[in-house]
Amino acid sequence: MPEPSRLPPDEVALRFPDGFLLGCATASHQVEGGNHNDWSEFERQPGRILDGSISGTACDHWNRWPQDLDDLAALGQNAHRFSVEWARVEPQEGRFDLEVLDHYAAVAAGCRERGMEPFVTLHHFTLPLWLAERGGVLAPEAPLRFARYTAACAKAMGETVRWWVTINEPVILAVLGYLEGHWPPARRSLPRTFAALRALVRMHASAATALRAAARRHGWEARISVAHHMRGMTPEDPGSRLDRLAAAIPDLVLNRWFLLACRDGRLPAPVGRGQPVEGAAGSLDWIGLNYYADELVGFDIRRPGSLFARRGPDPSLPRSSFGWTIDPGGLHRALLRLSKEFPLPIVITENGVADQDDELRPRFIVDHLAAVHSAIAAGADVRGYLHWTSMDNFEWAEGYSKRFGLFAVDRQTMRRRPKPSAELYARICRAGGIPRELLADALAAPRTGIASG
Ligand code: FCB
Repeated sequence: MPEPSRLPPDEVALRFPDGFLLGCATASHQVEGGNHNDWSEFERQPGRILDGSISGTACDHWNRWPQDLDDLAALGQNAHRFSVEWARVEPQEGRFDLEVLDHYAAVAAGCRERGMEPFVTLHHFTLPLWLAERGGVLAPEAPLRFARYTAACAKAMGETVRWWVTINEPVILAVLGYLEGHWPPARRSLPRTFAALRALVRMHASAATALRAAARRHGWEARISVAHHMRGMTPEDPGSRLDRLAAAIPDLVLNRWFLLACRDGRLPAPVGRGQPVEGAAGSLDWIGLNYYADELVGFDIRRPGSLFARRGPDPSLPRSSFGWTIDPGGLHRALLRLSKEFPLPIVITENGVADQDDELRPRFIVDHLAAVHSAIAAGADVRGYLHWTSMDNFEWAEGYSKRFGLFAVDRQTMRRRPKPSAELYARICRAGGIPRELLADALAAPRTGIASG
């Protein structure tokens, strides 16, 4: 069989547009090891992490990043997303660690040297302890502090980095930290959840303003967004008005609210009262989409705390070992929906599957990329796809019990081992599309749940 890179053009069944970006996404706390932040404190509290683990040395990516980037470049990836750990950059308020900033600048440059476009996330769920102690994102000074830290990152990396993500999944952070209480600060209250959402818009806006000011001053190009999590909310019974209403409310708050605020520069109802936020209007140059799964929603009178909504997986669909449904159609729908309401270029900043033994992932990748391809054919302006994730890592409250990586990591030796899906993804990256054979194999493979976790 010829090398995928040498496949003649007609062997690529679904080709992506020229310049399409294909890579992986990671986050500092999940891979670096040795972090000291609100999460590392939280992990030590009994009962917080499913398997009782702490992030600890994680994947030791802080030290092993050159080899890790080599491995990804060898797969033929032309993009890579990583995050900067605020707690390392600014371990005490106002004291910036220049060596740490140099480290991240080297990682960004290291991506470029290997032919991978760097995507940099400034905040991926973790906070420095000094800010967490003052209320975290609810601290009145959070937007200003975040802007100052952003300015330091821009100074260190602005020449190298074009694609910036200010905040990863702000809505998930607010929901898990303040509504469901599974993540720090684990303080459950609906008013606080809404306050956190408003604060996160302010933080994003102030960071975007700082980035734009730096880019203007130095003549750099900065393309700014957030990584926005979307979960389609389908009414259990589409014929029932109550189910439709029960689905519409979480759909507005989880899927649309944050983007509306960034588009219009105001905090819309039901989370806000239309208050203006300086720097928010038009603050997105593109949309980062994190897509994993859709949910079914039914009206439930016994759940006033969840706005009378019962949410869960569609039982007719296969599931990952996280219990999330697998449905590439959901990604296709999310892309078309976004394109219609927020007509901006889109990059899929995360999409992946928890799969203990790499049984689901090969077909998952092919099916989801085929869905991206068909969304582009239907008019969506999608510029890239970043798979979550390069290697098995610390999956927040699930600890090390969920495996999302293309590479397995031996937790004793830290050795990385490519899984079959890494090879498959390499063939796609090198071909700039889905080779005919992979598509045929995927279509022949069973699609129903293997969920082995
Ligand atoms: C997303 C997070 C990412 C990872 C994946 C599985 O919500 O952004 O850090 O945990 O889920």
